[in-house]
Amino acid sequence: MSMVTAEHLHKVFGRFVAVWDATFSIDKGEIVGFLGPNGAGKTTTMKMLTGFMPPNAGTANIAGYDILDHPLEARRHIGYMPENVPLYDEMRVYEYLDYRARLKGITGSSVRQQIGYVIDQCGLEPKRSNLISTLSKGYRQRVGLADALLGDPDLLILDEPTNGLDPNQIRQIRELIRTLAENHTVILSTHILSEVEMICNKVIIIDQGKIKASDSPENLTRNMRAAGRVSVEFKGDLDLITKELESYAPVKKVIHEGTLPGGWHRLLVRAEPGTDTREKAAAILMSHGFPVRHIYRHIPKLEDVFVEMTRRD
Ligand SMILES: Nc1ncnc2c1ncn2[C@@H]1O[C@H](COP(=O)(O)OP(=O)(O)O)[C@@H](O)[C@H]1O
Ligand SMILES: [Mg+2]
Repeated sequence: MSMVTAEHLHKVFGRFVAVWDATFSIDKGEIVGFLGPNGAGKTTTMKMLTGFMPPNAGTANIAGYDILDHPLEARRHIGYMPENVPLYDEMRVYEYLDYRARLKGITGSSVRQQIGYVIDQCGLEPKRSNLISTLSKGYRQRVGLADALLGDPDLLILDEPTNGLDPNQIRQIRELIRTLAENHTVILSTHILSEVEMICNKVIIIDQGKIKASDSPENLTRNMRAAGRVSVEFKGDLDLITKELESYAPVKKVIHEGTLPGGWHRLLVRAEPGTDTREKAAAILMSHGFPVRHIYRHIPKLEDVFVEMTRRD
């Protein structure tokens, strides 16, 4: 079942197109990593989904509600944690969440109950009476997450939730998001690709305002794997081997990466997608009787997919 469908979302600032015809969908229960270089349009897209920024064209549907036709209902299903969580330094954690709960229209005994729930979920119990100004960045992010969770929304939209945190804090927030994802649909933007590999089951890549990919990490890297780069280390006639490899049709380019101690040449063989040149490389080297100590087919990571899709050249 679909939780989010974005249809042809378009946003311009003056003459600058920040988001161009963004169409994607997210199913209930998915944890989506929203990836893109700085300025790609992640925050703008998220703001359109949350109703904070009207699109110039296109629309989106959240949990069955169109963001333009039924903005209040759509927004009620969303917990949003903006890029820079606007916390009030002079408030205590509990006061802040109380204030936010009331702003969201939560009333009566639900207020206490909801705050208790989000404080518990986000591990804020030891800090509930602390002034926000005294909290570490990690705890401030937790307060932002707790805020997003108020009202028990189906969908969490988290804009760079681990930005500016140290590795320990990142790990803690990641675990927290993983826990929250057990009963929420989550979209999070981040620069940390390993984080996405660890927790997301879907990746949407945006670059220069355009959606470049929307798929599972496994499918994205599998397609890359087909692009198959092969590394080879051998001893012998470098020019001859380079020429013979390059005359093998699927090979696009052979790059000499260097010569290692002992005279071992290291080559990177770049070939057509869907090919594996290991066997041919081995056969060529053996036909000359050259010593080989390494033939390796690269298994791409999400980072390779990201670089490939957002490269400027
Ligand atoms: N209010 C605005 N006015 C003008 N340009 C903006 C505004 N908000 C964002 N932009 C531009 O739109 C592009 C996308 O921004 P943003 O969505 O914040 O990117 P990201 O979150 O991926 O880093 C950037 O080039 C940014 O400078
Ligand atoms: Mg941003």
